[in-house]
Amino acid sequence: MNRIKNIIGDLSSVLPANEARAVAITLCEHVTGLSRVQLLSDNSLIFTTEQEQIIAQQVARLNNHEPLQYVLGETEFFGLTMKVDSRVLIPRPETEELVEWIVNDWKDIPCRIADVCTGSGCIAIALAKNLPDATLSAYDISEDALTLARGNSRLNKTNVRFFCADALSDKWIDPLDTLDVLVSNPPYVLESEKLSMQPNVLDYEPSIALFVPDTDPLLFYEAIGKKALASLKHEGALYVEINREKGKETVALFRQMGFGFVELRTDLFGNARMIKAVKN
Ligand SMILES: C[S@@+](CC[C@H](N)C(=O)[O-])C[C@H]1O[C@@H](n2cnc3c(N)ncnc32)[C@H](O)[C@@H]1O
Repeated sequence: MNRIKNIIGDLSSVLPANEARAVAITLCEHVTGLSRVQLLSDNSLIFTTEQEQIIAQQVARLNNHEPLQYVLGETEFFGLTMKVDSRVLIPRPETEELVEWIVNDWKDIPCRIADVCTGSGCIAIALAKNLPDATLSAYDISEDALTLARGNSRLNKTNVRFFCADALSDKWIDPLDTLDVLVSNPPYVLESEKLSMQPNVLDYEPSIALFVPDTDPLLFYEAIGKKALASLKHEGALYVEINREKGKETVALFRQMGFGFVELRTDLFGNARMIKAVKN
């Protein structure tokens, strides 16, 4: 416990007190394999030299504003462990809500699903785990991200097939009219939003995963919408996560492209965050 107090102190210049405490406990759990209760109840806890070295390195990285998930090398998504590092975006809680929407819609229905812009593979892997009758393929332009995503698929014992592909190109891998679901959480942060972003995101998360030009904020939705109209079956559905400031425009884009039913949903914080568009 005394050692944990020291770590909280070492983190206090970058984190508020309650967050520093939570992070210090997480680091100690991770490095010792002990539970929170064991750590907090043992006043005489002494770490080995190796454990001390690991914690010192982790604290230094956190003090450099590196996100905790990269420092630990993993995060939790939809109840599953996903390895993460600077090759991929850290999966966000709002993306779990998108997965939940698809799981509720497609439970017990055999279906073919493609995840475009898969990053760590979190969406495809969570769907594969929770929809046992589904067949999953996933795409990203980054070979580095795909290497990590394949590892996450093995770690979670799923059979997702991963492919390198550019979502903005006219070439596409899935044959026409064969998919039931196309899902994507593409880059959607405007270049101009950089100014208001924290260093832990800007300096560490891959910019290819985040940004789109202010002059063409919906470019991924237009390209992915086109692919969805070509590769979805009749009554198949496209599900996307969106920039919360672009809800109306993205709904209008999908309607104008010819999708039949288009629904916009908010996330837990009340932000416009995800859209389902059905091909008819
Ligand atoms: C916002 S991240 C989403 C990652 C993951 N699906 C998630 O929800 O955490 C966007 C991903 O799109 C990929 N990407 C960027 N441009 C792309 C393109 N033109 N074609 C395919 N993937 C692209 C990035 O490599 C990154 O992994």
